[in-house]
Amino acid sequence: MPDPLYFIETYGCQMNVYDSELVAGMLNKCGYSKTDDIHNADVIFLNTCAIREKAEDTVHNRLKNLHYMKKNNPQLLLGVLGCMAQNLKNELLESKPYVDVILGPDAYRRIPEILSDRNRDQKHQVDTKLSKFEIYEDLFPSRHEGVNAWISISRGCDKFCTFCIVPFTRGRERSRPMDGILNEVKEAVSMGFVEITLLGQNVNSYRTSEGKFHTLLEKVATIPGVKRIRYTSPHPQDMDEDLLQVMAENENVCNYIHLPLQAGADRILKRMNRTYTQMEYLELVEKIRNFIPDSSISTDIIVGFPGETQDEFIETLKVMEISAFDSAYMFKYSSRPGTKAAEYTDHIEEEVKQNRLQQVITLQKKLTLQQNKRHIGKTLPVLVDKESKKSPLKWAGRTEGNVGVIFDKTNEHPKEIVPVLIQDAQGVSLFGKRVIEKELLHEIN
Ligand code: SAH
Ligand code: SF4
Ligand code: F3S
Repeated sequence: MPDPLYFIETYGCQMNVYDSELVAGMLNKCGYSKTDDIHNADVIFLNTCAIREKAEDTVHNRLKNLHYMKKNNPQLLLGVLGCMAQNLKNELLESKPYVDVILGPDAYRRIPEILSDRNRDQKHQVDTKLSKFEIYEDLFPSRHEGVNAWISISRGCDKFCTFCIVPFTRGRERSRPMDGILNEVKEAVSMGFVEITLLGQNVNSYRTSEGKFHTLLEKVATIPGVKRIRYTSPHPQDMDEDLLQVMAENENVCNYIHLPLQAGADRILKRMNRTYTQMEYLELVEKIRNFIPDSSISTDIIVGFPGETQDEFIETLKVMEISAFDSAYMFKYSSRPGTKAAEYTDHIEEEVKQNRLQQVITLQKKLTLQQNKRHIGKTLPVLVDKESKKSPLKWAGRTEGNVGVIFDKTNEHPKEIVPVLIQDAQGVSLFGKRVIEKELLHEIN
């Protein structure tokens, strides 16, 4: 008999991408094979997100579609993993009884056992226990091919921002021992990955008996073959000088920081439990720019948090303008039952939220173009990702600041870092020309 086939569909953040790779690694080990065609699958897992209502709606709709597939193939095993499984266990069981397996983010180790139980009897399998210790230390992810390997260095979150569901879906914060992480980096490099992104909900609050985040980052930077290192998402509260120093001193640590702001007004930041003021945030941005010249900073913004007045919203625009973010992920506040902010009584009307969202998007478009234009005329190291979608004669690569660069192919290969003279900036992309090292030497001399 051929191996049974699995298909995993991933929603949400990079932590979920990493977790799907962990689950794939586990399924491969217990005799299942991956398929890229969902119609051939014997097992379908949706690895889900609960961060905003829309994320959950998407999965509800997807499950309705998959219900049809299951009607045609009653043997199909349908599983919901991840944050929404954790968040909505009972509701899912009631409204979608055709879902066979529901597993929260700390229950994946049980997958082999659950699949074999399930093959014996056809009962629902549910496990949404959160663990204080689970870090999946001895499991090896089966990674998607590409340039970048995601490596989770911690799990969970203890920050409890009042809008956020993550501390409830992912449980308490725990850090993996350094050795395990360093071995995983080495393994990823030996498999051909050249860029490493260290992941955690609060990646820079990483801490073990062997040291804090900056120590780990420095160790990763010295591993041969690691051409680029990124990390996401740091919390402003845990950005210290030691970390900025390591970033400044190690050439392969990208001069790029994703620094979620969320809101500009002090009263809203306090209500969000973000633990910094506008001034502290702006001072931090200045410090980053001083330590790491030509650094890029991106951010997350929430508009329409409960009680946000027009004047307070304008503070957000102001901070965005002063910080001159290179890019931003912008969201309308979405109430998450169970969080503290969901209980606030002064929720903002949808229309106002929509209008504010439009304003931040318009401002950010302007800032992104302005920031991208500052690169015109410079020669930047660009990591070649893949062929451009627009033309087989061009490459798509990325700068250290994570901006996409399109340039004509010469003799370079994916995964190589090459110098590119930036000639134009349009939309969110840069356009340039590969500089042949001889020309570069000539320029430098
Ligand atoms: N741990 C990361 C972010 C995780 S969630 C951090 O603290 O930066 C990613 C982003 O989703 C958040 O930064 C926030 O901007 C947004 N987000 C989280 N909860 C939200 C909610 N209830 N409504 C709208 N956006 C939300
Ligand atoms: Fe959510 Fe805040 Fe934790 Fe980020 S730091 S995951 S926004 S609670
Ligand atoms: Fe979503 Fe869970 Fe990530 S809620 S954003 S998948 S941690």
